[in-house]
Amino acid sequence: MPIRPATEDDIEPMSEIAAQAFWDDELFGELIHPYRHEHPEGVRLYWRALIRKAWNDPASHFLVSTVGEGDSQTVAAWTEWIRKGRKDEVEDPKKKQAEWPALPPNRAAHPDRIHYLERSYDYISHQWSGPREQCWDIALLAVSPHHQGEGHGKRLMQWGIDQATREQLPISVISAYGKDKFYNKLGFTIASGSAQDGEGNPLAGLVKGGLIWWKEDHLT
Ligand SMILES: CC(C)(COP(=O)(O)OP(=O)(O)OC[C@H]1O[C@@H](n2cnc3c(N)ncnc32)[C@H](O)[C@@H]1OP(=O)(O)O)[C@@H](O)C(=O)NCCC(=O)NCCS
Repeated sequence: MPIRPATEDDIEPMSEIAAQAFWDDELFGELIHPYRHEHPEGVRLYWRALIRKAWNDPASHFLVSTVGEGDSQTVAAWTEWIRKGRKDEVEDPKKKQAEWPALPPNRAAHPDRIHYLERSYDYISHQWSGPREQCWDIALLAVSPHHQGEGHGKRLMQWGIDQATREQLPISVISAYGKDKFYNKLGFTIASGSAQDGEGNPLAGLVKGGLIWWKEDHLT
């Protein structure tokens, strides 16, 4: 199960995997996409837009974990790792903005709630400051339901853990509901708050998950 940097050709399978992996998730499923059963294509559009938005950001690192060989190789899981807080980041000219056509409207999404996640970051961004301003953050991790439990998640996590160990930086994650133990096992044992924190946070009281976890046991 090799992992490699994602390419533009991977964006579609990555969108499909995220749509499936988070189909019944309380946030990406129920809250943001209440009309997903009537308009399933909208959920894939959501993920495609989200991936595209970060695709050319030099701080974002998209990786895929694959199964099969040669022509039959398929993406089984993917992640977006973000190296936060670097000041000297310059745009890589090779990663120039792709000319993507506009996406059709996402009819699966609730028109207001689709922005809740993005808006919630304003209320919690202070968590990534001071000694934790420079860090690695696991922004997204999605394993195809057909390949969960095969080690893809752990392996994609290890890539970022290795980077953070080399740089001696903390690692953060906002954990989806029911996934805390997966991250705890990997050493994310310091909880510093929740994605619902802060007065006026649009996510407050609407989800059960969203704990902000830190891993620092690799720091010497
Ligand atoms: C959660 C998720 C990323 C785990 O990835 P995975 O590839 O299925 O997990 P792995 O096979 O790498 O498992 C690694 C270890 O974590 C454990 N584990 C996996 N999911 C777990 C869970 N939900 N709770 C507790 N432990 C879990 C495994 O048993 C395994 O333990 P081991 O090392 O002792 O054998 C994956 O199931 C997924 O994509 N879920 C839906 C989307 C999602 O919620 N993503 C996370 C958003 S924060």
